Amino acid sequence: MMDGSIAYDDRALLEPVRSAAGIRQDEKMERLEAVPLFGGCTRRQLRAVARIAEIFDAPAGTILIRAGDPGEEFFLIVEGTARVHVSARKRLRLRPGDFFGEMSLLDGEPRSATVVAESALRLLVIRRRDFTALFEKVPDMARTLMATLSRRVRQAERALDTSRRPR
Ligand code: CMP
Repeated sequence: MMDGSIAYDDRALLEPVRSAAGIRQDEKMERLEAVPLFGGCTRRQLRAVARIAEIFDAPAGTILIRAGDPGEEFFLIVEGTARVHVSARKRLRLRPGDFFGEMSLLDGEPRSATVVAESALRLLVIRRRDFTALFEKVPDMARTLMATLSRRVRQAERALDTSRRPR
């Protein structure tokens, strides 16, 4: 589009559906153990996370987050890949173990970017209220989140620099 926004067909705006696979609590914990964000968690902490995280499946093409919308969920990729539309020209791929949607939950501002399922996705979803509670249960999570945020700020600034540079 001329203004740099992304032209989406609204019919592609599908809600992710709660997984029909009926994942057991211990299976959820296994998945969580493999996520670097929770790498340092004790069994007790992992159990707490598993209790609050819901599993969702989303087909390829689903718009999971739309830039400018209010944010209510934090997402962790279990299977599949997603694309973050950082700017009109910059897209980033997120893989299993990566997370997104943390920024709006941390600062209460609208979503900073659009995120689309590149392939079929299995996601762990944590809602705003539980996300806040999680910081008390898993204090180490804050460190990983901050490191990731710093990296994302640097990437966004690099993307801005590139788009401003005269060609
Ligand atoms: P949020 O702003 O809540 O919603 C959009 C999400 O895209 C954002 O949180 C981050 O999780 C993610 N995001 C935004 N900018 C970047 C970036 N430069 N690199 C990776 N992920 C990003």
